[in-house]
Amino acid sequence: MTITQDESEPSIEPAAPSRPKYEVLEDLPGVGPATSKKLQEMGFHTIESLATATARELEPAGISEKKALDVIRLARGSLDLAFVRADELLKQRETINRLSTGSQVLNDLLGGGLETQTITEFYGEYGSGKSQICHQLCINVQLPTERGGLGAAALYVDTENTFRTERLVQMAQHQQLDPREAARNVIVADAYTSDHQIFLLENADKVIKENNIRLIIIDSLTSHFRSEYVGRETLALRQQKLNKHMHKLIRLARAFNATAVVTNQVMAKPDVFFGDSVHPIGGHVVAHTSHTRIYLRKASRGPIRIARLVSSPYLPDGEGIFKITTNGIEEAEEGDSKRRG
Ligand SMILES: Nc1ncnc2c1ncn2[C@@H]1O[C@H](COP(=O)(O)OP(=O)(O)OP(=O)(O)O)[C@@H](O)[C@H]1O
Ligand SMILES: [Mg+2]
Repeated sequence: MTITQDESEPSIEPAAPSRPKYEVLEDLPGVGPATSKKLQEMGFHTIESLATATARELEPAGISEKKALDVIRLARGSLDLAFVRADELLKQRETINRLSTGSQVLNDLLGGGLETQTITEFYGEYGSGKSQICHQLCINVQLPTERGGLGAAALYVDTENTFRTERLVQMAQHQQLDPREAARNVIVADAYTSDHQIFLLENADKVIKENNIRLIIIDSLTSHFRSEYVGRETLALRQQKLNKHMHKLIRLARAFNATAVVTNQVMAKPDVFFGDSVHPIGGHVVAHTSHTRIYLRKASRGPIRIARLVSSPYLPDGEGIFKITTNGIEEAEEGDSKRRG
């Protein structure tokens, strides 16, 4: 499937004028069906995997070292794996905006709110508030910048049928937004399988552009992958697909200066006796592609939730509390914090 990049997209990534784009292995000059088959048998299914391979690794496919180097070079060229000057990165960072979560404590933890152009991951057990935060962000993104919003719309990829218009309406009313108008600004896409989820994102650029979307949510990122890929032998394929999916998300967030949010469940770690006995699904791929990770926990009871910044490229780890009420995500008050468990 071809991903069409709209020409009028704001080009934050340096444009590569006449560089050919390859989607599948057979697209690469010099890779015929037989070589492609062999490479795939060896675990190289994507251009991405070839771009980071070494010539020696490709030799068992029966290709010469020179040809292997050519193939790797073409794959790299296709993916914009390039060197960038730090001042260009600085310029890129100046265009980053912040989206409020609805709680000052949570915003402070995040250095002022969720960043655009990056992926923020919320993980935690059921009922910890991941989907509630997603709903709240769909409302907040519509607010003007002086109220912590981006004056834009939201895309909600729903994999577990958790999106609730009723909830959106409650939160909209609390923010004095017209509920009907607020609901119009949230585009919901139900994903039935992991492949469908991938397909939706691969084809999202037109919808994002046409609707001025600057918040892209995948709730949950991992549920389909987790239920469809069971058994160790499917792990490599699952991770490859997740990796590609996350990279598509990063590209969309950069191209549209949008905030990307994914949610993730946790798994018990049976071998841990001290410290945290849970960890997020998705292994290294999700850990390394989420720029900012927040672990959500329920207090012993009641509306209080504890958020911990677990990983950020430049912020210190920290913890804070907020609460979930009919109004949405709100500040926890003095009395509330005593109930923290
Ligand atoms: N209208 C409401 N008023 C107050 N609290 C609410 C309301 N709706 C939901 N909540 C709170 O939010 C909780 C559900 O949180 P949420 O759906 O965000 O969990 P989650 O982390 O997405 O869980 P899962 O892993 O199952 O998807 C409820 O248990 C309740 O405490
Ligand atoms: Mg949920």
